[in-house]
Amino acid sequence: MKILLIGSGAREHALARSLAADPATTSLIVAPGNPGTAGIATNVSVDANSPDAVAALAREVAADLVVIGPEAPLVAGVADAVRAAGIAVFGPDGDAATLEGSKAFAKEIMAAAGVPTAMAHVCRAMDEVTAALDAFGPPYVVKDDGLAAGKGVVVTEDRQVALDHAAACVNRDRRASVVIEEFLDGPEISLFCLADGERVVPLAPAQDFKRLADGDAGPNTGGMGAYSPLPWAPEDLVSEVVERVALPTVRELARRGTPFVGLLYCGLALTSRGLRVIEFNARFGDPETQVVLARLESSLATALHAAATGSLDQLPELRWSAGAAVTVVLAAAGYPGEVRRGDVITGVEAAEELPGVHVLHAGTATDDAGALVAAGGRVLSVVGQGADLDAARATAYAGVERIRLDGAQHRTDIAAGLGS
Ligand code: AMP
Ligand code: GLY
Repeated sequence: MKILLIGSGAREHALARSLAADPATTSLIVAPGNPGTAGIATNVSVDANSPDAVAALAREVAADLVVIGPEAPLVAGVADAVRAAGIAVFGPDGDAATLEGSKAFAKEIMAAAGVPTAMAHVCRAMDEVTAALDAFGPPYVVKDDGLAAGKGVVVTEDRQVALDHAAACVNRDRRASVVIEEFLDGPEISLFCLADGERVVPLAPAQDFKRLADGDAGPNTGGMGAYSPLPWAPEDLVSEVVERVALPTVRELARRGTPFVGLLYCGLALTSRGLRVIEFNARFGDPETQVVLARLESSLATALHAAATGSLDQLPELRWSAGAAVTVVLAAAGYPGEVRRGDVITGVEAAEELPGVHVLHAGTATDDAGALVAAGGRVLSVVGQGADLDAARATAYAGVERIRLDGAQHRTDIAAGLGS
């Protein structure tokens, strides 16, 4: 199978790593890719958000399957264009990707499908915002309705901070709206489901660490680390999410004539009152993908192709390693705000000499002298694998210790205290 993978983050490096090692893959092109994917696939430059450019590239390379990593190309309609060119694509059309692109739309689908989620008000004016904040009380949860790379959500006890964020969202443009919702307590879980428009196949659950600093302090980020499996999760968690969340959502989208083909990312809270959806995404999560794929033993190419071609019913049951995986994200100085670029990164090879460690690139570049430098917010994802979470965590942090990047930030408590 000739595969074209779109994107350039650590998630795409993780996908590329699994696809490149897969006997079902005959050739792998990553567009635009990053210095990490260049080592295991052919990088081709492309405007990933241009439907015409990606469809033309898919035709040019005679791709059997196009896999779209990030949300922006999906929302821009890249999958629609590739599908219209007659090429199998793993990734929803723009209409179905609105599930991620608009939190208000996601709430509407969940209400129609009976999916448990936080109560919410969609507000377009500040008087509605103040009424909703007062109705729910603190802690306040204020969400930008549009795409914001995981940074559009503010959870705060401070009413003024909530009001300021809401004002920034509703005043952005005339049609902008903000979602105010009830606070959900309890641990968070990410469960990825392959969807073929009708059916879903769950992957292994993972947990992400969204806040910048240890102890879940600091601002929300795209994700600073993750682990899988979740030894503390209820045994029937995955089947409950499939039955109560993923299948009803996929069926509702199909009923509306916008079938969801791709990765349905269910972001969940296990609250004291039961399971609730925090958010949906229309693509693999980053950094959870790095740990989920590290544990996948079946052919990823075959699974993605089955979803893309409406044949998940023919896919053999997926096999998972009994061991654990932990990833720690190294972010550049300044992240999640304005980041410093150009600092030299050393020690990646030394880290990978450790058994059980691999390093995935995100915001990296090669400078004119050939040195690896920081070129984005989240720079590297260091993955450790081991027999249990403690072993995987020790391995990941041993890898982190070998990497040098001036001003780099990372959490020291990813997967801490979980055991096996
Ligand atoms: P989202 O972009 O909707 O995933 O939100 C980002 C993060 O904000 C989530 O992973 C949660 O940690 C937090 N969050 C979002 N919604 C809520 C909520 N209703 N209650 C508590 N925390 C939330
Ligand atoms: N790790 C959170 C996300 O991918 O949205």
